[in-house]
Order: sequence, then C-alpha cells, then structure tokens
Amino acid sequence: MAFTDLLILFLALLFLRFWWRYWSVTGGGPKNLPPGPAGWPIVGNLGQVILQHRHFVFTVRDHLRAKYGPIFTMQMGQRTLVIVTSSELIHEALVQRGPTFASRPEDSPIRLLFSVGKCAINSAEYGPLWRTLRRNFVTELINPARVKQCSWIRKWALENHMKRLRREASEKGFVEVLSNCRLTICSVLICLCFGAKISEDEIKKIESVLKDVMLITLPKLPDFFPVLTPLFRKQLRQAKALRNKQLECLVPLVRKRKAFVESGGNGGPEMASPVGAAYIDSLFGLDAPGRGKLGEEELVTLCSEAINAGTDTSATTLEWALLHLVLDQEIQEKLYKEIVEHVGKDGLVTESDVEKMSYLGAVVKETFRRHPPGHFVLSHAVTEETKLGGYTIPENASVEFYTAWVAEDPALWDDPGKFRPERFLVGDGVDVDVTGTRGVKMLPFGAGRRICPAQTLGTLHVLLSLARMVHAFKWLPVPGAPPSPAETFAFTVVMKYPLKAVILPRV
Ligand code: HEM
Repeated sequence: MAFTDLLILFLALLFLRFWWRYWSVTGGGPKNLPPGPAGWPIVGNLGQVILQHRHFVFTVRDHLRAKYGPIFTMQMGQRTLVIVTSSELIHEALVQRGPTFASRPEDSPIRLLFSVGKCAINSAEYGPLWRTLRRNFVTELINPARVKQCSWIRKWALENHMKRLRREASEKGFVEVLSNCRLTICSVLICLCFGAKISEDEIKKIESVLKDVMLITLPKLPDFFPVLTPLFRKQLRQAKALRNKQLECLVPLVRKRKAFVESGGNGGPEMASPVGAAYIDSLFGLDAPGRGKLGEEELVTLCSEAINAGTDTSATTLEWALLHLVLDQEIQEKLYKEIVEHVGKDGLVTESDVEKMSYLGAVVKETFRRHPPGHFVLSHAVTEETKLGGYTIPENASVEFYTAWVAEDPALWDDPGKFRPERFLVGDGVDVDVTGTRGVKMLPFGAGRRICPAQTLGTLHVLLSLARMVHAFKWLPVPGAPPSPAETFAFTVVMKYPLKAVILPRV
C-alpha cells in the first residue's frame, strides 16, 4: 500500500470516528426518523446486509418488510435509506405529494462519470434541466405520431428476431429467450435513437458495453462511504476505461447522424430514418438549462440512457411471460386463439392489432404484476425536509419505494402468488390503474412525476414481440429440463436460470 493510501485511510478512519460519535449522539441528524434495525458502529446496517449474501431487494422482501412494516430506515454506512413499502404511503409520496418526492439523491463519482454530472433524465435532480430533457424525450420519441412513424423499425427488428429464433432452434433444438429478446429490443432502441440500421455484430457490441455500464453503476462500497472514495482509484480507473469504450462505440454513430442531418438527409443506406425522426436529432439543437448546447459526451449519455432503460425491462418481461406460457399450455392456447381470431393463421400481427387483443393485454399486465422488472423504482430524494407516515424524511436521505410488494399484498389481491391473467378481465385486476394515479395496486412503471416516460412504448414492445412469437411458434419446455421460476438480481429481477424453450412452428 502506498504512503498516500495509508494517509487517506488514516484520515478517513479519523473522520469516521468523529462522524460515528456525532451520529450515535444525534441519531444522524434530525430526530424522528422512521424506526429500523439497530446498526453496528461506523457501518450501520451495511454489515448485516452484506452478511445476508443475497441482493438487498430480497432481504427487504423476505425479512425487513415483514418486521419493520410500511416505512423504515436503514443506515448504510454514511447513507440514510428510508424504505417505503405500503400502498398508502407510496401513493401519498409519489402521487399526492409528487413534487416534494421527485428529486434524486447524490451520485457516486462512477455514476457521475457516466451521466456527465447528472445530465440524464433518470438522474437529474428535480428542476429545469430534468424538465427540459424529459419534455423533449416525450415530445420527440414517445408521441403517438412518432411511434407510428417508426413502426417499420419494429417490423424490421422482429423479422430478424424470428429468423434468429428459427436458426437457433434448428442448430440447438431449443432457443434462449432473454438473449434473443435483449438483442431485438436493443436493435429497435438503437434505431429509434440514431435512426441507423446497423449490423447485428455492431448491435451486439453496443448491447454488451451498455450492459457493463449498467452493472458498473450499481451501488458499491464507495456509494455508502463516499469518504473512502480516494481508496477506490482502481474502480474509478476501470470505470473510465469502460466510459471510453462506450464513447468509442457510440460517438461514430453520433457523428454520422450529425453529418446526415446537416446535409439535409444525404447519406448511405445506414441512416434509415428521415431527418427529424431519430431521438438524437432533437438533442442536437436542444438548449439544456445550465448546460447550453449538448456535447458528444452528453449525447452519448442520453441515447445510452434510452437504450439501457428500455432493453432489460422489456426483455425481462418477455422472458417471464414466456415462462408462464411454457408452464401453462392452457393460457398459451387461449392467447394463440385470440391472436388467430384477429389476424388469421397466416396474417402478420400489427401494432394496431395488439391494442385490440384483450387477453394478450391481460397476460402482459399479469406479468408486470407478478414480475415487475424493478422491485424498487429508482432512488428518490425529497426537495426539502418533510414528513411521511408521521416521521421525518431528511433532505439528504435516499427514499426507496419497494413497489413490488403492493402487487403481492394479499390485502389487495386474491391469491397474489398465482399467475392468472383472467383477473384483469373479470376480477380483482379489472379497474387497476397501472400509473397509480387513482390508487396503488401495482406500479411496474413507478408513479407521479418520475413515472417511466416510455410506459406506452415499453408496453408496445412487449405486446408486439409476445404476440408475434406466440403466433409463429408453440412454446414448450425442453424435455428433461423443466424451467425453474427462481429469480436473481441483474439490474432487473431476472430468471436465475435463463429460460430455454423448444419452439414448434405453428404452420
Ligand atoms: C417494460 C418496459 C419498462 C418498464 C417496466 C420501465 C420501468 C421504469 C421505472 C420503474 C422507472 C423509475 C420510476 C421512478 O423512479 O419512480 C423508469 C424510469 C425511466 N424509464 Fe422506463 N421502463 C420501461 C421502458 C422504458 C423505455 C422503453 C424507455 C426509453 C425508451 C424508458 C425510459 C425511462 C426513463 C428515461 C426513465 C427516467 C424517468 C425520470 O427519472 O424522470 N423506460 N422506468
């Protein structure tokens, strides 16, 4: 260990000593935090969480929620986490008092590197920059006219998807669901962002780099002990190397698109969307409050954000939906019958068809209920110290909404552990508002100010891909290897043993 490391360690320990003394005397600042498990000196509850040897999501679900109830505090090193689990408190915070709970907490140096100092919709604090970026995203990428204009992208990507599934099935005898869905959804989002139809190899490269970016930005030790950050120079160096790789991958696309736009739409066949139809076209001229015109770094960050946010969430949902269809052939047949009723055995399922298929909609909603891709929404923060459930929520706390629980709560759902799409046609799911505005029973997209701005687009990707796959193939378990519903955490909550299925062409 170098002398500077020793010096930093010594100073950090000294700081922690004083900080711990202050914390144990004052309770860490304002009194009246929600109660929570007693912590250890210095590390708070961090040690207990690490000793569980499983992801924090599952510790909250299986132990802490039952013990500490609707709102509790975890002291994770220097960070205070307030965890909210009840439907009423989630609704009060995110919907009724939305603006107060709409900010984001401080970020670690690694996350700041990838967001170019919080210049991304998901990480920007509640304020003018967030508002401008989000408004631009919604009007340019998600408005119904744009979604319709870009439907050829989904058609192209799903044709490739079907060919790939057929090829894989004939080579291996089965298909891997998640990897194929990830690749397809990622290719759609790359094309929506850059207007470019690129090769499968390039898509795979971008997908793999962006997956690494997501994993490296997950919370790590320095997130809980910012004071120790200087000791983690190696991690920061690795993060910088990955950031360079991300820039090498995406800056060429940014430049090609810029040249295409500036030339009024003259370019090779790669630039397939007309000028104005790609998300990045709107970002070239955007005047971002506090930033001015966006540079290449910011453009890469904003496009990566859209690709990352939309890939895993939709692909994971497809994998869980297909798991249930493989396990329950009756549901699969019912769904197939509905698709055939709308488009016939040989027709092509279109985007307007899927909107009319009520059973398909119910299968997808039930999948979002039973397997929300994120068990928590992203971390929130309050814009000023406030109260929730009678307790104080300090300004510097991370507020974590455990939204998966409300969709499992037996007080809100009949037989919540059962996968039963029919509940959304007749029964306890009929009037459910997935945006949470009228009350919170399931929140796959969050609620309030920070609700996923691409809820309709993400749902369309899932509906259309699922309908096409079930229309084309009968999905069966691999003989001798029944799928396991065990789950694990990989940014989203995914199947621990990725789903493999045998696919038989329907016609
Ligand atoms: C099945 C698909 C999807 C699910 C389940 C999903 C879910 C979520 C959730 C839970 C949040 C966090 C809400 C909060 O912090 O309170 C979120 C935020 C976000 N999502 Fe999605 N999402 C999906 C698809 C997409 C797609 C396709 C895109 C982009 C093309 C996207 C872009 C974003 C962005 C930019 C945010 C940050 C919003 C903000 O902080 O204001 N999402 N999403």
